Amino acid sequence: MEKRAIDDSDTITADPAFRADVLDGLTAPQRAVPARWLYDRRGSELFEAITDLPEYYPTRTETRILTESGADIAAKVGRGRAVVEFGSGSSAKTPLLLRAITPAAYVPIDISGDFLRDAAAALAQDFPDLPVIPVEADFMEPIALPEAIRGLPKLGFFPGSTIGNLVPRTSVDLLRAMRESLGDDALLLIGMDRVKSEDVLVPAYDDAAGITAAFNLNLLDRINRELGGTIPVDAFRHRAIWNETLTRIEMHLEATRDVDFAIDGHAFQMAAGETIHTENSHKYGPRDARMLLLAGEWTPVAEWTDPDDRFALLLAEARPRRKAP
Ligand code: AVI
Repeated sequence: MEKRAIDDSDTITADPAFRADVLDGLTAPQRAVPARWLYDRRGSELFEAITDLPEYYPTRTETRILTESGADIAAKVGRGRAVVEFGSGSSAKTPLLLRAITPAAYVPIDISGDFLRDAAAALAQDFPDLPVIPVEADFMEPIALPEAIRGLPKLGFFPGSTIGNLVPRTSVDLLRAMRESLGDDALLLIGMDRVKSEDVLVPAYDDAAGITAAFNLNLLDRINRELGGTIPVDAFRHRAIWNETLTRIEMHLEATRDVDFAIDGHAFQMAAGETIHTENSHKYGPRDARMLLLAGEWTPVAEWTDPDDRFALLLAEARPRRKAP
């Protein structure tokens, strides 16, 4: 996901989009940097570590649902579909799905060619008879799928509750783009994290070992390294806050004292207690999840959860559009 270039003098040249997002975002009244910039190489490694934390239930819960409900999901989905995964999985979830439903082809889509090649190579080893056709693209926009899967029924796969990292308006845009890419009669299997007690949610995003704190604070190191920043990282602390009104966990970086710093020659001042908002993770109750799908032009048809109803996998259908009554 990391995008940067090495110039002739061997120094790292910043991605202009990163520079613009940081300079704009730190000037806004509520300072904010888009969450995508958390995922440089170090950030991606830290996120992988988060998925193994005892407090971080989503990954293991979704994996459990896929394992335990695989046969039931297969019965609803049927064999012989082309599975189109949005954001190719480096995780164990994709093989679980592929093993359960016996698809005709697997199309991982990712904006990062490196991730794609790794995912495709790993899958090809485990599934030697399955055609794997990677597509390097930004899945936030409608995508022309490979000719080879044109005649096949499709199943979109979007696990991990990544949809929760988008604000609802952008989630709806993405669901509609997926519908456009997959076409009428496609199915979508999507993971969404449920609303639950703050006592469970906050520790999941502020773990005792401090891995999520390191993941969040790494953004400041990245700004210093790639944008010539002088942010005193030790003057910031990680905060995970449950926003009840917007039903989301928010990650912030809070200044613990008044600080002055510069980024690429631009001066910034923050007072103690001020925060930089770095990520949202929206949670959806059963009805919220179905409404979101409907707003994105997907009709919910089935769902599977764990015994504690912590996480849900929803199956939805792209019904041909018709005049509403
Ligand atoms: C990637 N995404 C689904 C994670 C989440 O739970 O929202 C990102 C994350 N941030 C901190 N912990 C996990």
